[in-house]
Amino acid sequence: MKGIILAGGSGTRLYPITIAVSKQLLPVYDKPMIYYPLSVLMLAGIKDILFITTPHDQDAFKKLLGDGSHVGCNFEYAVQEEPKGLAEAFTIGQKFIGNDKVALVLGDNIFHGNGLGSLIRSKIDIDGASIFAYPVKDPKRYGVVEFDTNKKAVSIEEKPEKPKSKYAVPGLYFYDNRVVEFAKQVEPSARGEKEISTINQMYLAAGKLEVGVMTRGMSWFDTGTVESLDDATEFIRVLQNRQSTMIGCIEEVAWERGFITKEKFAAAISRYGKSKYGDYLKIIVNDYNAGAEG
Ligand code: TTP
Repeated sequence: MKGIILAGGSGTRLYPITIAVSKQLLPVYDKPMIYYPLSVLMLAGIKDILFITTPHDQDAFKKLLGDGSHVGCNFEYAVQEEPKGLAEAFTIGQKFIGNDKVALVLGDNIFHGNGLGSLIRSKIDIDGASIFAYPVKDPKRYGVVEFDTNKKAVSIEEKPEKPKSKYAVPGLYFYDNRVVEFAKQVEPSARGEKEISTINQMYLAAGKLEVGVMTRGMSWFDTGTVESLDDATEFIRVLQNRQSTMIGCIEEVAWERGFITKEKFAAAISRYGKSKYGDYLKIIVNDYNAGAEG
């Protein structure tokens, strides 16, 4: 399975912060926002990842993430000329996807929780599409799923005026290869965007859409507004400091999943200077060495 991270967009809800800087490079506590969705794809075992950015932000992403070899991955980059919608990920990424299945994660979405890794690893072999539903207070801002009494999805609507449920669709989607053809058929919505909800409706109509409700133990943040960005920062700060483990540490995930050797892991530390992030990586290596000796 391939992975795509959609990190373009205009970020107008965060102006003036995002007038000159990409939203997905802003800090969420101690690391750039993009580390969180990237670590989710890596947690799923995905190594081939395409970053879709605006034309003017691409160089900054390349500077931060390179070719991915330091975390045992293969990173590629593509440009979305204008923010014309999430469904464009699969037409822009068509060549990259080839004949494979693909996971899409939005560059401003953060996921954390018990069982997240096993949940997403169970989607790697998907036949059809697999998306999630998460109960929120303000479903109007999102794609909304309606369920029947058997908890089977019966409709999906993008940013409805009158939501039929409280279940929003978070920005993490798994598709089989049909998604490329479906994406080509998507027409722009009334607001002028090619909506991912249209693709999900196509899978639903074909009887091939699986919707899993994310349980209480799972946290999802979409960091598109000042309030939600601040909430996410606070959440990461409190949890990390309380548990002394990091959320969204891509080198740690790479090592845990066996993408890189101990030597490569140790080498990756040097680029983080005197930061807390670098200190954390040093602790992991030292603990491992102590364990290996003891
Ligand atoms: P949104 O938050 O819906 O849009 P945005 O980032 O342009 O922000 P705003 O509404 O404040 O103007 O986008 C969700 C994610 O998808 C985000 O990471 C940006 C990305 N995106 C693209 O890469 N291309 C697009 O065409 C759109 C609409 C979003």
